[in-house]
Amino acid sequence: MTTPLVTTIESVIFSEEAIAHAIERMAQEIARDYAGREVVLLGVLKGAVFVTADLARALDRIPQGPSKIELDFLGVSSYGNASRSSGEVRLVQDTSHSIEGKHVLVVEDIVDNGLTLSYLRMMLGARAPASLAAAVLLDKPFNRRVEVPVEYVGLTCPDEFVVGYGLDYQERYRTLPYVAKLRAETFTA
Ligand code: PRP
Repeated sequence: MTTPLVTTIESVIFSEEAIAHAIERMAQEIARDYAGREVVLLGVLKGAVFVTADLARALDRIPQGPSKIELDFLGVSSYGNASRSSGEVRLVQDTSHSIEGKHVLVVEDIVDNGLTLSYLRMMLGARAPASLAAAVLLDKPFNRRVEVPVEYVGLTCPDEFVVGYGLDYQERYRTLPYVAKLRAETFTA
């Protein structure tokens, strides 16, 4: 018999409005830096699905921005089903198109210990893109295991286990429109 999973949202950390505002600001910065260029927004599955979609549409609304916005995705797993990082980074799904010669912007929901983004920058950098940068909605700088550059940051995340807007706990809560703190005593992993 398995124990039923009961988890509770403790508090909202970033509201829907705060997230939208941060994405709009990131889009303005990206539009300025990539003006007139073709850019590939490379979302990291699964957590970055929502930020990638919203960032792409925010960018598209800026007339002086990139001349073309391509979307692609790759899949990485680093947390498994635990609430803490295992430290293992695994490519589980590759991009659908080659990034050689392209301006690539990796889009992430969160950078925590930095291992995932660091691995991606190394792996993608070896594929000879025209340029490589990263846009991350939530920067959680308290537990870095490796230093990794992040060119565009949306919000600084407090040192809490957060869910929502793509971030999950055991595949739950991804679809929340806001980012929230999960009640810690209910964790089972
Ligand atoms: C999360 C998140 C980042 C990574 C960041 O992904 O989406 O990719 O962890 O953590 P790090 O900086 O400590 O490496 P996860 O492995 O949970 O997969 P998911 O996006 O499919 O939920």
